[in-house]
Amino acid sequence: MADRIRLDGRVAVVTGAAGVIGAATIKLLAERGARIVAVDRNAGQLDEAIKGLPASAAAFAITADVTQEDEVADYVRKATEKFGAIDVFYNNAGIEGEITPIVRYSLEAFRRVLDVNVVGVFLGLKHVLPVMLKQNRGSIVNTASIAGLIGSPDIAPYTASKHAVIGLTKVAAIECSNTAVRVNCVCPGLIDSRMLSAIVEGRNTGNAPVPTDKVVDRVPARRLGLASEVASVVAFLASDEASYVNGAAWTVDGGRTIA
Ligand SMILES: NC(=O)c1ccc[n+]([C@@H]2O[C@H](COP(=O)([O-])OP(=O)(O)OC[C@H]3O[C@@H](n4cnc5c(N)ncnc54)[C@H](O)[C@@H]3O)[C@@H](O)[C@H]2O)c1
Repeated sequence: MADRIRLDGRVAVVTGAAGVIGAATIKLLAERGARIVAVDRNAGQLDEAIKGLPASAAAFAITADVTQEDEVADYVRKATEKFGAIDVFYNNAGIEGEITPIVRYSLEAFRRVLDVNVVGVFLGLKHVLPVMLKQNRGSIVNTASIAGLIGSPDIAPYTASKHAVIGLTKVAAIECSNTAVRVNCVCPGLIDSRMLSAIVEGRNTGNAPVPTDKVVDRVPARRLGLASEVASVVAFLASDEASYVNGAAWTVDGGRTIA
């Protein structure tokens, strides 16, 4: 029987591909045989992420801002021109924004987070879905967060945006009813990453660095997650192994949201 977790020849478009989770994901998808279209606004880091792929991988990078509709339409067009299809779309680019209580959050900074994390995800869906619906096949994975499931202080727009990503995932999944296109999202928890450090440092009012055991004291796994552990779930959802998974929000959080 064919190995249903393999992605040989599949075309995977990944946004935020230069970031910690995006780079780990393009690496795993390429190792499983996918052809990669790596999208990010940070051209320098995108080159580094591409260099981390197996030498045999078919991959190319596109510098684009996910909040700009013409740039989103452009990366979708370039991906289909180059590889003829989009089988997997990891709609992952996101920002944490400022780490500040609501009463001090500027409107401009609030809107900026929604622009990247919600409008960016919406535009990706808007432009990739027609390609997948025409093919009548494809798997989309959006990156939400445990911040899409629970509230925590000082990250109001981030939390609102990730709740919205789960909502967008459900709507897109329903709108693909009766097709072979599936739409799911992942909800990573505390992942060892630049973004988590920025949030922890932003909340830290003391001078001493916050020890890791304090950061993970409400995580049953008692450790931070790895970007590769998020990538594993994305690659599963992208594959035929997840053929009956649709409209789901998969936590990858070491049990943080159990109780
Ligand atoms: N790191 C965590 O602990 C964690 C936890 C839960 C969810 N997430 C989510 O996972 C995703 C990836 O996070 P990460 O930890 O890899 O962060 P990261 O900052 O390392 O990577 C995010 C990437 O998105 C890119 N990006 C930001 N705005 C963009 C834009 N407008 N257009 C194009 N690219 C843009 C950045 O250049 C960066 O390369 C995000 O959506 C984040 O919210 C992260």
